[in-house]
Amino acid sequence: MMRSGALPAVVTLPNARLGVEGTGVVDALGSGVTGLEIGDPVILTAVPDASVRGSYAEYTTVPASRVVARPAGLAVAEAAAIWVAFSTAYGALVEKASMRPGDHVLITAASGGVGRAAMQIANQIGAVPIAVTRHTAKRDDLLAAGAAAVIATDRDDVADAVRHHTGATGADIVLDVVMGPGQQDLVKAARPGGTLIAAGFLDPRPTPFPAGTPLTIFSYRSFEHTLDAVVVKRMAAFLNAGVRLGALRPAIDRMFTLEGVVEAHRHLEKGLHGGKKIVVTV
Ligand SMILES: NC(=O)c1ccc[n+]([C@@H]2O[C@H](COP(=O)([O-])OP(=O)(O)OC[C@H]3O[C@@H](n4cnc5c(N)ncnc54)[C@H](OP(=O)(O)O)[C@@H]3O)[C@@H](O)[C@H]2O)c1
Repeated sequence: MMRSGALPAVVTLPNARLGVEGTGVVDALGSGVTGLEIGDPVILTAVPDASVRGSYAEYTTVPASRVVARPAGLAVAEAAAIWVAFSTAYGALVEKASMRPGDHVLITAASGGVGRAAMQIANQIGAVPIAVTRHTAKRDDLLAAGAAAVIATDRDDVADAVRHHTGATGADIVLDVVMGPGQQDLVKAARPGGTLIAAGFLDPRPTPFPAGTPLTIFSYRSFEHTLDAVVVKRMAAFLNAGVRLGALRPAIDRMFTLEGVVEAHRHLEKGLHGGKKIVVTV
């Protein structure tokens, strides 16, 4: 989205870089840095100036506070793909919406990177992830990815289906990374007093103000948490525990070399990744 100009973030040309996530090994340390050693495997937690210091590079420099130890038990490619989706889903659901065991959590674009992470995190907490997709054909894939139930908008009425899956109560939490006119159906599917978190914008159409059911509404950007060292520590601890227990793992679609990055972007834009992560190696 940054490369195509779809994000509001300004990309300075020429010599712009891309890449907001990645993993690597500490090659050098600034003076006064403690808690890290040369050779430590780490993952990036935030690259606010990605157009200058993006991770599509053999070497990059970041403040020491913008890396955490690479979670043990992940392949390098998985470690490259875990942070943005999982920290966003964790930040939105756990830090922002205070998700608890038993909560019914309605997740849009559930087959996408954030959606898959959200389902795994909900399961790790003991909440009940209800996946939303546009395609009935994705049902089995989403059940295998951890959905307790799947709602396909090419067949189901969202509010009716959520009532059916929640014993007529409605969803406690709605995580909407799609937005657009479809959000109105999500609002109808939420329980009065529930929480709606708007965290993405895959549908470019306008989103009507969410009126109807009384909800607490958040607009979420992960930088709110990934630039906060205290929350990053909690996020990293949660991810490490989930990886160790086998509950959290990013789904990888394909790997490309940096020379193949144009092909990687085309692959992504055509939707051939099926919502799974594409990893570029340098
Ligand atoms: N708030 C933050 O800090 C933050 C952080 C990371 C990402 N995001 C945002 O979150 C959103 C999702 O990111 P992601 O990486 O999970 O995306 P992704 O992996 O590319 O999601 C792909 C899935 O989204 C669904 N989708 C695509 N276009 C859609 C549309 N127009 N209407 C409905 N569903 C659509 C499709 O699922 P189906 O075909 O199954 O419907 C597709 O499989 C993006 O807008 C991204 O910018 C926000």
